[in-house]
Amino acid sequence: MPDEQKLFKVTIDNITIDVPAGTSILNAARMIGGEVAPPAMCYYSKLEGSGGKCRTCLVEVAAGSTADPRPMPKLVASCRTNVMDGMVVKNITSEKVIDARKGVVEFLLINHPLDCPVCDQAGECYLQDLGYEHGAVQTRYEFKRRTFVREDIGRYIQLHMTRCILCYRCVYVANQLTDHRVHGILDRGDCSDISTYISKAIENDFSGNMIDVCPVGALTDRTFRFKNRVWFLKPMDAHRDCDKCCGKVTLWNRGDEVYRVTARKDEWGEVQSDENGKAMWICNTCRFDKKNTSDWIIEKPTSINRHSVISANHYEVKVMPDDPLDKLLNGREPLLLMNIHEASQVNQQDVHLDELPGPATYETFNGEPFSTGHNVTDIKESLGVNTQGTDSTNPNTP
Ligand code: SF4
Ligand code: FES
Repeated sequence: MPDEQKLFKVTIDNITIDVPAGTSILNAARMIGGEVAPPAMCYYSKLEGSGGKCRTCLVEVAAGSTADPRPMPKLVASCRTNVMDGMVVKNITSEKVIDARKGVVEFLLINHPLDCPVCDQAGECYLQDLGYEHGAVQTRYEFKRRTFVREDIGRYIQLHMTRCILCYRCVYVANQLTDHRVHGILDRGDCSDISTYISKAIENDFSGNMIDVCPVGALTDRTFRFKNRVWFLKPMDAHRDCDKCCGKVTLWNRGDEVYRVTARKDEWGEVQSDENGKAMWICNTCRFDKKNTSDWIIEKPTSINRHSVISANHYEVKVMPDDPLDKLLNGREPLLLMNIHEASQVNQQDVHLDELPGPATYETFNGEPFSTGHNVTDIKESLGVNTQGTDSTNPNTP
């Protein structure tokens, strides 16, 4: 059997899954889905070589493999570490990871301006989400922040270098999607700068995809800047016959007016793939020049995660399959799936609550509620309650 078809068993946040050998921990976690998947600010599955820059995807490897179950000494970047058979990984179940992620967010925000109220990316910015989940209330940074002047790179894109987190995604787009890369990261360390060098315009037909891959508001669409907020727009799947790209896009409308056109995104915020697994990048003609509804054949409203601010007031109700878990979750992603008996300190696996004639009492659990080792008499006595039927703390009690 070829190596890549071998299946490895990996456990992430107590959920075990079989994945092909060569899968990264991040992609294995994405197969489980929901909160188990670590955030990724620089990795982009459709861009070769991406990942390993931002450290937001750090996880703890509690056991390396069945052959060598020792834990890895340091947290690892899940986008750049492949699973091994029998590996045990902790993401949201690890305090070390949550703590490290806080530190990473603090670093990312050191030079990032807090200009969300005027930033076009607000509402669909991954740094905003991360800041909300892991950010500190106040910065500890006392030095002058990096500042850059805004730069128009080409007719369609404006660069706000102050917002850039140097994830390199746009550089990979330029390298892998356009004929000639005319921009890149210049200099090193805190002097690093995305630039076209002598501000050479980016005119390639696929350069607009850089806007889609930028996880923050550093690369903005000049045809959309300051025109509207994304949560006021109604995203619709639409297509047209295009001789340069797949022609399948998301239109962002208000009424009949098309405010912007973007590629279709999947649940990880990446450009969707077609049925053959090919990324559906779109060309600049579709993105910037087709701003009339009549240019497009509208298919249906775009599915938006109901927890996204973009879904405000217009999310669809998911049609539930017959699975009772789906009904219970009502369209939400499960936070974490685990065996409640193993995870809970108050349940006992041999007690079937649905078979009891009435509500469970402490007697159901052998007189030892909450598995704390205390019985009810002990607890009442510690609270000053007279266990003979009178309450010693009540002065009116004889
Ligand atoms: S401009 Fe955006 S995509 Fe490019 S490196 Fe900066 S943050 Fe990443
Ligand atoms: S997503 Fe893994 S290091 Fe950035």
